[in-house]
Amino acid sequence: MTLDVEICSGTEVAGQRVAARIAALIRDKPDAVIGVATGSSPEPVYRALARFVDDGLDASGVRWFALDEYIGLPPGHPQSYRAVLERVLIGPLGLHPTSLHVPDGTAADPEVAAEAYEAAIAGAGVDLQILGIGGNGHIGFNEPGTPFSATTHRATLTESTRRANARFFPSADAVPVECLTQGLATIMRAGRIELVASGSHKADAVAAAVRGPVTEQCPASILQRHPDVCVNLDTDSAAAVYESS
Ligand code: GLP
Repeated sequence: MTLDVEICSGTEVAGQRVAARIAALIRDKPDAVIGVATGSSPEPVYRALARFVDDGLDASGVRWFALDEYIGLPPGHPQSYRAVLERVLIGPLGLHPTSLHVPDGTAADPEVAAEAYEAAIAGAGVDLQILGIGGNGHIGFNEPGTPFSATTHRATLTESTRRANARFFPSADAVPVECLTQGLATIMRAGRIELVASGSHKADAVAAAVRGPVTEQCPASILQRHPDVCVNLDTDSAAAVYESS
């Protein structure tokens, strides 16, 4: 196992530790570029970061780049990832919405939007990327089978991902079918990666990512090839990592 794994007693503790490292980065580099994930897992990180800001951390010079966005939700839809990140990150940290960059899921031509986003990220250079992980091992919306070489692209959600995300929508049918997502090659260019996971429903995906073979069937396993990754787990999501095989 090559990845650095930290097991915490709970998600708030993990969030505090990750946020402390991000706060240190921002103090060191006030114009840092930080990649941000949606989903429940990173929310304790954002809550803890907001406390650092309350205590005087100045994050106003940071540029934030989202991992992904649904295609086809109307502008301003509360479950668009732009709206979610404005709610859980930009608002609580008192930041200007223009500091948040999200792929344009409303673009007439999603492929053009993907290329534009890839160019913007490549130009900015992500210092630190926050990641969650899907129950099937996806990162961003890179579902199993996505080539490791993919850059930002248009993708189709698997049924299991749509079911998992149905909790945020009135019904499973309301979950968009397509998205724009940073590719695995895009994610791998980040200088550092902090992955957060919690809950027993993530245990198999976490174990496959951390100590399974590096395979496109488990997109997160590519992180084993990155030189600076910390995998932050609660005890439930860590359960299968140290099982004998
Ligand atoms: C979504 C996002 C991913 C996220 C995953 C897990 O599919 N596109 O970036 O990691 O959900 O979300 P959660 O942390 O809510 O389990």
